[in-house]
Amino acid sequence: MYFGGDYNPEQWPEEVWDEDVRLMREARVNLVSVGIFAWARLQPDEGEFDFAWLDRLLDKLHDGGISVDLATATASPPNWLVRRYPDVLPVTETGTVLGPGSRQHYAPTSPDYRRLAADLVTALGRRYADHPAVAMWHINNEYACHVRADYSEHAALAFRSWLSVHYGDIDSLNDAWGTAFWSQHYNGFDEVRPPRASPTTQNPSLVLDWRRFTSDSVLDLYRMERDALRAAGAEQPVTTNFMGAFPAMNYWDWAAEVDVVSHDGYPDPRDSDAHRHAAFAADLMRSLKPDRPWLLMEQAPNAVQWRPNNAAKAPGQMAAWSEQAVARGADSVLYFQWRQSRSGAEKFHSAMLPHSGKRSRTWKEISQLGAALEGREPASPPPGDVAIVFDWENRWALTQPDLPADIDYQAEVFAWYEALHARHVQVSFVRAESDLSGFRLVVAPALYLLTEDGAASLERFVETGGTLVTTAFTDIVDEHDRFRPGGYGTQLGEVLGGRPVDFFGVLPEEGRSARASGADFAVTTMIEDFDLDGGDVLARTAEGEPVLIRNRFGAGTSLHLACFTDKAGTGFVLDHALEAATVTPVVDGLDPAVEAVATLHGATLINQSANPVKVKTENDAFTMAPFEVRHITRDQLHQ
Ligand code: GLA
Repeated sequence: MYFGGDYNPEQWPEEVWDEDVRLMREARVNLVSVGIFAWARLQPDEGEFDFAWLDRLLDKLHDGGISVDLATATASPPNWLVRRYPDVLPVTETGTVLGPGSRQHYAPTSPDYRRLAADLVTALGRRYADHPAVAMWHINNEYACHVRADYSEHAALAFRSWLSVHYGDIDSLNDAWGTAFWSQHYNGFDEVRPPRASPTTQNPSLVLDWRRFTSDSVLDLYRMERDALRAAGAEQPVTTNFMGAFPAMNYWDWAAEVDVVSHDGYPDPRDSDAHRHAAFAADLMRSLKPDRPWLLMEQAPNAVQWRPNNAAKAPGQMAAWSEQAVARGADSVLYFQWRQSRSGAEKFHSAMLPHSGKRSRTWKEISQLGAALEGREPASPPPGDVAIVFDWENRWALTQPDLPADIDYQAEVFAWYEALHARHVQVSFVRAESDLSGFRLVVAPALYLLTEDGAASLERFVETGGTLVTTAFTDIVDEHDRFRPGGYGTQLGEVLGGRPVDFFGVLPEEGRSARASGADFAVTTMIEDFDLDGGDVLARTAEGEPVLIRNRFGAGTSLHLACFTDKAGTGFVLDHALEAATVTPVVDGLDPAVEAVATLHGATLINQSANPVKVKTENDAFTMAPFEVRHITRDQLHQ
């Protein structure tokens, strides 16, 4: 189990480093991420490197028994680089050049940025590949976090070559993008431009490819650094920090390229659902690379500084959220950052070692948690019986403005996750194309863009006995955001017992609802005009339209919700689905405020509320204090 955080010693005189190591040991720190923003210090000018200070620091940490996750330091280009090569700077959708003075001011496709980053990474790799302190490499930092997409001329060139590789010839692109519409025909790839600000809606197929390209081109930059490290002789695991369900990068693709998944999580202590959002991110990280633990690379020791108003974590809450990550498969608890900065934009961000030092509550809670985690084995949580489909390309397709109704895909997926989390059901995330045979229930909310492989996989899942839940706006377009010949639901119609023939928006003030036996629930956002073909109707609107359709297909069952709904509706559908799939919760009858995660040897229970909660398992009864964590064995859970 790793415990520690980002360490930025270049912000402090060397005399402070000895105290750092002493206090790190006291807090049981055994891993620090070094040099993430130290490019200017490591390379004072082009062709000139200064590694002497880093040599001294790494030796000192090693002597103190502290391992290093060594950064490639490429996230904040130094001023000499910008002065000499100003076209490394990224450009926004409206053509504004983003300047230096903060960080992450580079165009991922800029040849000069890439060349100079490669020089630095190669030099670091050569020098530290065999350093005994270096346990792992940390490439760049939170790729695309601040500049989600770069619209520079470098990006335009790279986009054109990406398109020519994907389409081969311009006629195929014209066909895929439907450029007969609005006179958008291209005579050649050199006419294609990034989707900068335009008078009205951009071609959605172009925007979808642009988002794929953006994710791919940043991934290509990551790969360049990783390969430079390997070529320089570095053999340690390589990672880069993801940010949960970050919208701009397709982490399914990224996960295949990192040795270990790592995640930065900053739930808002003011949000009463914060722990469910954190659980969502943790389960997503576990699912990206299910065969090995992931790293909680960053979290705040207490408050952050970047929200308009920054709440403290309640006493015990930081430990509860850390234990949550561990229960959900992390083998580290790491923070941003070790020592609070003295100046700069983040000087009010909490740190493991605040300016008030050991007097602070933060330090006390950090050192208690460090001691509690020392020697802990990873929890190795099983995947569970339920999977939710989460697909970045579908998310991108759904962000286009001109749909029958605005759909917040992330919020929709979260609503289904949240309901399962509150029911203490263990969930994994998958793509529709994944092997689904290990699951009993698959929930695929708003899977508007459904590939042929994805549809075949979902069909096979139901045919062989699985239970599938779908919502309105599923199986509508192909991978180019085009309707398939024959209309909507052309691939899953037989599985779902019918197909939509039209869609209409629904607003909250219309107060539309549906009635099922034993429940009423709201009809929100969009309703399908659903043409039944064999399915049984479990719920209808007040006007008589079918909105919940159950169908037997092969050995399995599908439940299609032909609208969007509220918590009552999500719960109603899920209770049906869980029963049909015979899925049981980790612990039965548990208060929703207590989180339950199945682990290798039993379960971790976390009271995620500020109130005491009574817990009764089959074999035990106890009261959990606010934010208390208990690891219970299988024997305590079941007779
Ligand atoms: C991100 C970054 C860190 C730091 C923190 C502050 O996660 O990776 O460098 O800026 O945010 O919360």
